[in-house]
Amino acid sequence: MTRTMTSHTVDTRELRNALGSFATGVAVITTLAADGTPVGVTANSFASVSLDPPMILWMPGRHLRSLDHFRSAGRFAVSVLAKDQAPLSRRFSTPGEEKFQGLSVAQGLGGIPLIEDALATFEASTATLHEAGDHCIILGNVERFSYRAGEPLVFHGGAYCDLLAS
Ligand SMILES: Cc1cc2nc3c(=O)[nH]c(=O)nc-3n(C[C@H](O)[C@H](O)[C@H](O)COP(=O)(O)O)c2cc1C
Repeated sequence: MTRTMTSHTVDTRELRNALGSFATGVAVITTLAADGTPVGVTANSFASVSLDPPMILWMPGRHLRSLDHFRSAGRFAVSVLAKDQAPLSRRFSTPGEEKFQGLSVAQGLGGIPLIEDALATFEASTATLHEAGDHCIILGNVERFSYRAGEPLVFHGGAYCDLLAS
């Protein structure tokens, strides 16, 4: 299907469908609220930015209840989910306060929670924050990372999918 639109005629649903053709991994981004409460959201907007110095970014929507915590915390962590961690992706994409209830997590730098058995974790201090339409761009300096072998959770066309499926 071919869609040609100007910025004045963008159909948001069609744009979302088109953007969904870009397959991504899935991560849980975490931080701590000022009172020490853990905060986390599922995100596929994670990206590597720079190797030297090591920098990463992710893009929280302005609609996120947790956005102010990410703005003010000064640091965040990225846990890249493995293929069998779709339930965690669902848990952290459900808006609300109960995301960590009954969940065992590892303690990262500054006490920020890290998802156990993630494929990779990146712990970062926030470098800059840019406003970008209905989202923000949060750039971070990587301070510590770890990774393991394994298959990633993949998101494509609005659904979790199997890289090996035909
Ligand atoms: C696969 C997937 C990827 C997502 N990626 C993002 C993202 O990059 N940025 C974002 O703001 N929300 C993203 N979301 C939606 C958030 O996870 C969801 O709105 C969030 O958990 C709401 O948290 P809140 O309690 O802070 O409002 C994604 C959801 C899914 C299922």
